[in-house]
Amino acid sequence: MTTFDQILPITTEVLEAHRNTVALLDWLIINRDLNGRVRFIAPQQSCEDEGQRTAVEAIYQALAERLGPHAYRTDAGVLYETTQEQARHGASGYALNGFDQVWVVDRLATEANWVRIAPETDGALRIVFFSIKGGVGRSTALAATAWQLAQTGKRVLVLDLDLESPGLSSALLPSERQPKYGITDWLIEDLLDNGDAVFDSMVATSNLSHDGDIYIVPAHGAEYGEYIAKLGRVWMPKLRADGVREIWSARLNRLLCALELRIQPDVVLIDSRSGIDELASACITDMGANLILLFAMEGEQTWNGYRMLFEQWQRSHVTEEIRERLRIVGAIVPDMDRMTYLEGVRESAYSVFAETLYDEIAPADQAVIGLTEVEDGKLLWRVDDLVEGWNFDEADEGAPHYPWEVNWHRSFAGLRSLQGRLTSIDAQEVQAVFGRLISGVRNAIDSRSTS
Ligand SMILES: Nc1ncnc2c1ncn2[C@@H]1O[C@H](COP(=O)(O)OP(=O)(O)OP(=O)(O)O)[C@@H](O)[C@H]1O
Ligand SMILES: [Mg+2]
Repeated sequence: MTTFDQILPITTEVLEAHRNTVALLDWLIINRDLNGRVRFIAPQQSCEDEGQRTAVEAIYQALAERLGPHAYRTDAGVLYETTQEQARHGASGYALNGFDQVWVVDRLATEANWVRIAPETDGALRIVFFSIKGGVGRSTALAATAWQLAQTGKRVLVLDLDLESPGLSSALLPSERQPKYGITDWLIEDLLDNGDAVFDSMVATSNLSHDGDIYIVPAHGAEYGEYIAKLGRVWMPKLRADGVREIWSARLNRLLCALELRIQPDVVLIDSRSGIDELASACITDMGANLILLFAMEGEQTWNGYRMLFEQWQRSHVTEEIRERLRIVGAIVPDMDRMTYLEGVRESAYSVFAETLYDEIAPADQAVIGLTEVEDGKLLWRVDDLVEGWNFDEADEGAPHYPWEVNWHRSFAGLRSLQGRLTSIDAQEVQAVFGRLISGVRNAIDSRSTS
């Protein structure tokens, strides 16, 4: 019996067998609906051309026979639309491997498809702290980074976007400093054009730093109110007065732009939700992040998770849009056998990156030797430049797979409040635990401000 994962390989095979007919169409959409059933959507003009219509329907029939439960009856399996935009109805798609004008369009029950990658923002650097697994020290590292950057005079804006498991702001702020509202309140009020009612009361400043400032926007306010009733609505798209539908992550982005305008930060640190989650997708793909920190603890679960994600980017041909922003962080490196542990992280990260995101560089013996050319009666040999791919050695410290380590340290272990720890900790200790991560972040900020 055919299952979901066989849909694309079978479709490719069937279309391959009818390549000449497919080539006659301006475009063809392989539409996978919410239940995982496949339809063709073809241009209206191919419906009006009897020969083409019969050919398209015959291909669909051949496909349907192989897809079994994942196909419609042949007479319901092909739809026609005048334009591709109408056919997509707002959904993004990617080219089916081996075909330029055949697009796979997935209808998902969530807005998060992970492959709609917003270009990098060109204002303050936006840095996302993400991990596949939870509890790997992401929020702690973010707080320490914010603290260190502020100590050296930076204005740091911190967003707690782990809405389903908030905690960062209470770690960074004593309770008397918590603002009245949080991100959740704004997302709810914005649905009714009432965001201004909470905007001025959703940012707090931390008392931790001496020189710069840390501005914190929590997930919820000092009084969280009916948090669950609100959380269930933050994902709502908004139908604007001009009829444009704005998905929730676009609304979030609008909020971040307004906060940046108000606060004028040097850097924005975003605490993302962990896992392949809708909120995490918004943080990583929709917010124009400039640096995406991928926290990783050594183990099969971590690497399987990252592989799933990277393969989806590869399949959808978007790797080039995102891969240069990524960096692995070796999370909570244990005291014992530090180097061996880190080498393990580096090795595993390298194999996932190399198999999914790095280019394969053509070996020198496959270099294309150009055609002989005749000039003034002489024969000239032209050797084409070797096309260099985006690739790194495993030991290259500048490579995205090369881990910036965060070390285990007893003063950060356990559930004691971070606020307490950071007020009593000294800069040397922070340096010893988070130094590599902080200098990486600092370099990214500096290279942004000099570019
Ligand atoms: N460098 C460190 N050394 C020792 N313990 C640490 C370190 N960093 C974090 N921890 C501890 O690990 C636990 C998880 O930390 P934290 O809450 O920062 O992780 P997280 O990845 O943000 O988790 P979640 O997914 O729940 O948001 C906490 O008990 C924290 O005290
Ligand atoms: Mg956290």
